[in-house]
This record gives sequence, structure tokens and C-alpha cells, in this order.
Amino acid sequence: MTSLTSLGMPAVPPPTSRPTWKAAWDSALYGAEGFFRRESPAAHFRTSVHASPQFAQALVRMARGAGLDTVVDIGAGRGELLTSMRRLDPALALLGVEVAARPPGLDRSIAWTTGLPTSVEGLVVANVWLDNIPCHVVELDDDAVPRVVHVDPDTGEESAGQPLGHPSVPSSLRRWTDQWWPLEGGEPGARAEVGTTRDAAWADVVGRVQRGIAVAVDYGHLREDRPPFGTLASYRGGRLVDVLPDGSRDVTAHVAVDSVAARVGAVVRRQREVLHELGVEAAMPATVLASEDPAAYLGRLSSAAEAAELTAAGGLGDFWWVVTTRS
Ligand SMILES: C[S@@+](CC[C@H](N)C(=O)[O-])C[C@H]1O[C@@H](n2cnc3c(N)ncnc32)[C@H](O)[C@@H]1O
Repeated sequence: MTSLTSLGMPAVPPPTSRPTWKAAWDSALYGAEGFFRRESPAAHFRTSVHASPQFAQALVRMARGAGLDTVVDIGAGRGELLTSMRRLDPALALLGVEVAARPPGLDRSIAWTTGLPTSVEGLVVANVWLDNIPCHVVELDDDAVPRVVHVDPDTGEESAGQPLGHPSVPSSLRRWTDQWWPLEGGEPGARAEVGTTRDAAWADVVGRVQRGIAVAVDYGHLREDRPPFGTLASYRGGRLVDVLPDGSRDVTAHVAVDSVAARVGAVVRRQREVLHELGVEAAMPATVLASEDPAAYLGRLSSAAEAAELTAAGGLGDFWWVVTTRS
């Protein structure tokens, strides 16, 4: 077979022929054969939803405590959170919003759709959804010029595209980066994962809430603590693997949660604080219970272990809750 190189053409395409990270990521996860159209998230990574039904219990308490009787789960996976909620509260109206088709066997009382509802009165929750919203990646080149990064979806090889400020680059990228993830003074290779798409996605959701609470739960960072070289990562089969937007694996990046919150007028809190307020406690049962009622003791032990996982420092407890209340 004749190779491109033997014809005197470059084997590596010129930088601009590669898609931007945002475009490659979009098609890898949500294209016709995209990762999330085929794959169950639970087969590839563990979230608070899978860690314990106490996560669902806390959200049920949040909804009922605010007098709400509807829960909408955005990026509902295979309906695991809603299934837990149904067991806990048979009277709640439940709706899953998900690009994947309705899971077979999902309780018939749980509604399922691929599009956001026009308007909502209730609790809207999106657990680890925003980190999967594709975004542009910008990197400082050797002359400290911030440029949009492009990527070969099959190899992961990257190349520098146009600089911020170029007429072909949306001006919102520069504005956002200047405000939320400034790169000046950084060393070559310093990166920003531009949060414009996440901000817009969440603003779209919150704008549909007529009365109720909107909660985005995710891993993320604040302006004073951005990771200097970004956070792009891929998971497959429960393991961290090389990041690649080829559709064979998840692609994720932490969320600039302060920017999302500013866009929608939300407060930002750590998961451990919110869950404690909602009654998730990692308290160990009294040892005397072990002899009095061994089954109850074991049940409480397991429940304490689950609560500890949901609220752990360095783990799920560090997740951010971006909370907007509309009355
Ligand atoms: C990381 S998974 C989280 C699943 C679940 N919320 C959990 O906590 O286990 C993100 C999910 O969001 C879904 N998703 C991404 N963008 C979406 C969109 N625009 N509309 C509906 N679902 C979307 C994906 O298909 C995927 O199932």
C-alpha cells in the first residue's frame, strides 16, 4: 500500500485540519455512535449515585423539605438515581433526561426523555453531568500566546490552532479565560479548559426552573485554585486510561464551578457540608448493638461506611454542589 509519506505528503496533517478539542470531544461522546449513546456510565465509573442510596435519600429530603413533589435528573445514566428515589418515595413525580434511550426495565412510573423539559416546578439535579459537556482547551505556546488546542481523535496528538483574539475564534473564549482562568504569567504549556459551554448548558437548565431548586453536582475548582495544566481525563471499565476522544472511552474535565454559579446566581458548597445538613451521617453504631442485635449492627455499620464514602475528604465529599433556589 502506498503511504502518504512515500507520496511526499506529510504523514501528520497540518494543525488546523484537526478538530478542536471541543469538536472532537463532542463527536466522541455524543456523535451518532458516541460513547454515551452506547455505554452505561456505571460500567465505567462510580458516582455518588452508585456509592449509596443515601445520596438519593438526601435529594428526596431536599425536594420534600422545599415542598417540591417533582424531581428531574439531567444526565440520568440508566435511571439509577431515579430508581432509588422511587423506592424511597413512591409519590414523587420523576423524570430522567438522557441522550441514551430509556433503559429496559425502568419503573414505568418514571418518565424518560432526551430533551430538557420546557419548564419545571421541582428539584432539578445533574450529578456529574457538566464535566462531560465538551469545552475548548486553550494553551500557552512557547511565546506565551494562548492558542486553541486541536487534537487528532485517533492518536490524541495535539497541535496549536489560532490564538485567542483571532477573528475565527469566538471572542467569548478570551473574555471567559481572562475573567475565570487567566493564563498570563504562566509557563508554556499552561492550559485553561474554557467553561463557556458548561456555563451556557447550566444556564439553559436553570432558566427552565419556574419554582424549585437546581443542583449541579460535580468535581471542579475555583479561580484561586485552577489546575495549571488542566484536567482532561478518560475512564473506561472503571479505570483511568489515556485521554482520547475516539469514542472508546469517557472524556471529562473538572468544572469551573464558580463561573457556573456566577452565571446562574447560585451558591457553591461542598458535598460533605450539604449531605451532613440533609442527614447523611457517618456515625458508627454503638458496639453493644453488635451483641444485642447483630443484624441491625451490621446494617448500621454498612450505612456508616457508605455515608463516609459520600462525605470523604479527598473523595466524593469534595464534590461541589452548585445550588440555585427559585421561589
Ligand atoms: C457521567 S454520566 C452521569 C450519570 C449519572 N448522573 C450518575 O451520577 O451516575 C453523564 C450522563 O449525562 C448524559 N448526558 C450528557 N449530555 C447530555 C444531554 N445534553 N442531555 C441528556 N443527557 C446527557 C450522558 O449520556 C451520561 O449518561
